[in-house]
Formats: sequence, C-alpha cells, structure tokens
Amino acid sequence: MLKIGLIGFGTVGTGIYERLIRTRGDIEKVTGQSFTIEAILIKDKLKKRRYPTEQFVSSWEEFKSCGPYDFVFEAMNGIDLAKMYTGELLSEGTTVISANKKLVATHGQMLDQIAKEAGVYYGWDAAVCGVIPIVNSLKSVFLTTEIYAITGVLNGTTNYILTKMATGQTYEDSLQEARLLGYAEEDPTDDVDGWDAVYKTCLLAKSCYNKWLNIEDVKRSGISQVEAWHASGAKEFGWSLKLVGELVYDGEDCVKGSVQPTIIVNDHVLSTVDGVMNGICLDGEAIDQILIAGAGAGKAPTANSAVEDFVFHQQHHLFKPKSSLRKKEELDKQTIGKEL
Ligand code: NDP
Ligand code: HSE
Repeated sequence: MLKIGLIGFGTVGTGIYERLIRTRGDIEKVTGQSFTIEAILIKDKLKKRRYPTEQFVSSWEEFKSCGPYDFVFEAMNGIDLAKMYTGELLSEGTTVISANKKLVATHGQMLDQIAKEAGVYYGWDAAVCGVIPIVNSLKSVFLTTEIYAITGVLNGTTNYILTKMATGQTYEDSLQEARLLGYAEEDPTDDVDGWDAVYKTCLLAKSCYNKWLNIEDVKRSGISQVEAWHASGAKEFGWSLKLVGELVYDGEDCVKGSVQPTIIVNDHVLSTVDGVMNGICLDGEAIDQILIAGAGAGKAPTANSAVEDFVFHQQHHLFKPKSSLRKKEELDKQTIGKEL
C-alpha cells in the first residue's frame, strides 16, 4: 500500500486529489499497487473548502508525523518553504512530484542531486505546460535525434490574454478572466512579465539538453507593454501575437534561451495554439516543426500531468514502497535472529 501526501490544496492540489480519487481503479490496475492519501498540507485551516477532508494539516510537523510517505505531490506557491520541504522529503527517501516550476527552475539542480543520492525520483513534468507530457516525452523519445531548436508558447495566461485582446477584449479584463479560471500565478506579474515562461524554458533545456540554465541568462521580455492594436493588427494580416520561449542549441554544448512577444505567421504550427493552449515545436535533424500542444494551465490538465508523472515513475523505475522495504528489513532482522 503506497502512502501518499499532498502539499497544497489550491487549483492544482485539489485537481490532483480529485484525479487520484476518480482514477483510483485505473491507477491501481496500471501500477499494481493501491494507495492511501495520508495527509494534505495547507496554509490556512480556516479557509472554506470544497472537501471537508480529515487529512488537512496546517503545519509541517503535523504533516511529517503522518508519514513516512512513499510519494508526495507538491503544489504550493513560493520557493523557500517548498525548497525546504522538498529537500527534506527527498533526502529521507520520499519521491516528490512537483508542479512548482519556480522552485524547480531555481533549485532543481540541487534537488535533483539530493534525489539522486537518496535513490528516489524528483518528477516535475506537471511544472511544464500543463497537460503536455513534454518532460517525460523528451526522456523517452528522440533519443538519437539532435534537436536544434525548441520554440514554444509556454504560458497559458499570456496566450489567453493575447488571444482575447486580438478579438478586442481589454488586457485588464482578459487577465482578470485568466485569474478566475485558475490559470494565473498567485502573483500574475510572474506570467505577464515572462518569468513563468523563463522557468519553463529552463526546464525544457534540462529535459532536452541536460543543461540547467541560470534564469538570469534567459533573455526576457513580457507582454505588459503590448497594446491592443498589436494583437488585433496582427490578426488582420492572419497572423498572431504570442509570447514565445525559445531554446537554440548551437552544436557546441551551448544552449541559449529567450522569451519574448513574437508575431507568428499563419503557416507556422504555433499559429494554431490559441487561448489557454500551450504548444511546443521541435525542430531538428530529420524532424521539422513537430508540434505537441494541449491545455497549458488549469486544474484538470495540470493534475492529469502530475498523476501521469507518478504512474510513469511507477512503471519506469524499480520502485519499492518504503512500507515493503520496512517489512523486508523486519523480516531480515527476524531471520538473522533465528540464525543466531
Ligand atoms: P493556489 O494558490 O491555488 O494554491 C496554493 C496552495 O498552496 C494552497 O492550498 C495554499 O494553502 C498552499 N500553500 C501556500 N503556501 C503554503 C505554505 N506555506 N504551507 C502550506 N501550504 C501552502 O495555487 P495553484 O494551485 O494554482 O498553484 C500551485 C503550484 O502549482 C504553484 O507553484 C504554481 O506555479 C504551479 N502550477 C499552477 C498551475 C495552474 O494552472 N494554476 C499549472 C502548473 C503549475 P491554502 O489553501 O491554505 O491557502
Ligand atoms: N500560470 C501558468 C500559466 C500556469 O498560465 O501557464 C501553468 O504553468
């Protein structure tokens, strides 16, 4: 029986909880193991919630006392506490599945190292482009294909805003809608100033080129300077304006990243990526404009990615639940006891 913990119960955390419950039978069939959700860490115990779950706890100590966990899904805001919690869990041998791209882009290298040393998995496919399984896809396919460039619409909020602005809706109204729909970050300047797309650009560089980019080295320009006529004017020509993240591999072990508003002409595959959709276009040796697209933000798509990452891990790694390891240790002790 796998013991699962959840950190965060907002848009994404609620989605993960619902998906785990709703697809329990499928998960158990695919992974061959059943699971329990032992505890859910939140910040504010007094907040009105959709689910009156008995598993809610509001302190790290309480959360830890419900462990040890085999898996923890981390879907909280901010970096410092998330880094501490994740580091502690990984070092104790708990696999962590994260949607927190800001944390992964800033401290992923260190957390990956901790995971490696502890022999566990630190999965963050849900942190990149919502429902699109791009991180695990890049691990599983194109293993001999050199990818020269990755161009992507990597942020759902800004793509939603720009798509709406092209139809005449104001920037402010479009941003407000994106917030209400659960697409935007807690601080939406992370979206509109391009930071969120920078984080995802860094995570794509790691996934595709095994390189951790420094976020400060990614050239960044957001959409807060974009005016309505830029988006609607582009549309008149049949083009579209999108915030595009780009990675270029120069063949000498050097990867350069940038994020900037870009006019997309109508014969480029990214021109079809509208609204909250994200799209990632791969160009490389023998491949030309391969587009992988899907809902880039929101509850269900992100939760789907997180749960798929968990299942992916179960299928692709030699994983022994801690509970069975403990049992084995106990058995070993008993056997040794008898021999003595
Ligand atoms: P929300 O603001 O909806 O939820 C955040 C959750 O984290 C809340 O449950 C909150 O608790 C909890 N939390 C915040 N601080 C603490 C703390 N110090 N201790 C314990 N719990 C805490 O955010 P989202 O669900 O939208 O996003 C969560 C993460 O997932 C973020 O890192 C975000 O970047 C990422 N993400 C979001 C996507 C989206 O579409 N929204 C998509 C992909 C990734 P409380 O409920 O008590 O306030
Ligand atoms: N705020 C992010 C976006 C959430 O709009 O793309 C998904 O990562």
